[in-house]
Amino acid sequence: MADGVVVCDRHGTIVYASEGLAVLLGYRPDELVSQPLETIVPDRLAARHEGLRREYVESPATRSMGVGLELAARHRCGRVVPVEVGLSSFGAGSEMRVVAVVRDVSERRRSEAARRRLERDLLQARKMEALGRLARGVAHDFNNILQAVGGTAALALEHADGRLREDLETIVASAAQGRELTSQLLMFGRPDAGAPELLDLQRELAELLPVLRRFVPKRVEVRIECPPDVAGVCVSRVHLEQILMNLVVNAGEAIEGDGEVTVRVADTRARLRPDSLPSVEEEAVEIAVVDTGPGMSEDTLACLFDPFYTTKPGGTGIGLSIVYELVSQAGGRISARSLAPAGAELLVLLPAFRPPHPSAPCPGV
Ligand SMILES: Nc1ncnc2c1ncn2[C@@H]1O[C@H](COP(=O)(O)OP(=O)(O)OP(=O)(O)O)[C@@H](O)[C@H]1O
Ligand SMILES: [Mg+2]
Repeated sequence: MADGVVVCDRHGTIVYASEGLAVLLGYRPDELVSQPLETIVPDRLAARHEGLRREYVESPATRSMGVGLELAARHRCGRVVPVEVGLSSFGAGSEMRVVAVVRDVSERRRSEAARRRLERDLLQARKMEALGRLARGVAHDFNNILQAVGGTAALALEHADGRLREDLETIVASAAQGRELTSQLLMFGRPDAGAPELLDLQRELAELLPVLRRFVPKRVEVRIECPPDVAGVCVSRVHLEQILMNLVVNAGEAIEGDGEVTVRVADTRARLRPDSLPSVEEEAVEIAVVDTGPGMSEDTLACLFDPFYTTKPGGTGIGLSIVYELVSQAGGRISARSLAPAGAELLVLLPAFRPPHPSAPCPGV
């Protein structure tokens, strides 16, 4: 859009407004003439602006576009429009006029915000990659050690009885538990774990519901809300189960006393690939896991997906980092928010897949 021009006298009364400026701010040019300049300044800046305007009239200088100040104009409807302003003046005394050239920078601000988001996501992805490598390295060594411990204890079991037998059984069981954990860590970031397949979420969730219920306390109700015609997702079944299990178990663990965990599925549109600029919205399926727990602090929200971040006494803190990894592998995104006054929502977005309708007539048949 072309730059807008506004001219005012030394008292800040508008004497001329260009068509471009008027259109930008929702006016006709003649509507702005004779109005105080603060008509087009956002309310929160108006008092300060008046002071700056007076100072400028005392010692006017030419200032190029955008230098020094992040400015904003006020649209007729009250909306704030980010602008750059260039200033100059002519005439003297009561004939003095101040000319402001106003440029709408909304689009530029939007792409700057998108770039910052992209940089943040990239940083997070790099961090996860590095931590994933570290976790896999450590897990691999631990797995070998635990295998040796468990194997030796199992051998010793063959000729042990009484108290010793019980102790050895505990060692074998603990080593197996440890290996279960390390096998989860080993999956961290492994792109080939589980082949993706086209899944009908309504069916998958119905099958999974009894299992999910078993993993949360009885006082917590687990509900599924999934419309029958929701689009499919292309993800490994094992991964989908792992994602849902971790999210529902976390939600259940967050609730003290009675409460509810709802898994809500819906079709939506989302920017799934923010690294392609301009990022485009595409068809997606959202899976929201909402609980009635205490919600999350700002600190928790900031580290939620970091490996080993936990606030639980017995927690390992790898649940959500694995979920993050699995969702990313499926081409999706995950985010979290705390719901005021209580509760949390973990939102998984996955690319939507709609298979051709089986009963649709095939062309040419
Ligand atoms: N629904 C939720 N409500 C409140 N806090 C949550 C919720 N989900 C996750 N959190 C917070 O995020 C942290 C990390 O979760 P994550 O699943 O990664 O690890 P964990 O549950 O602590 O341990 P585990 O590895 O056993 O799953 C939790 O310790 C908890 O503080
Ligand atoms: Mg967890």
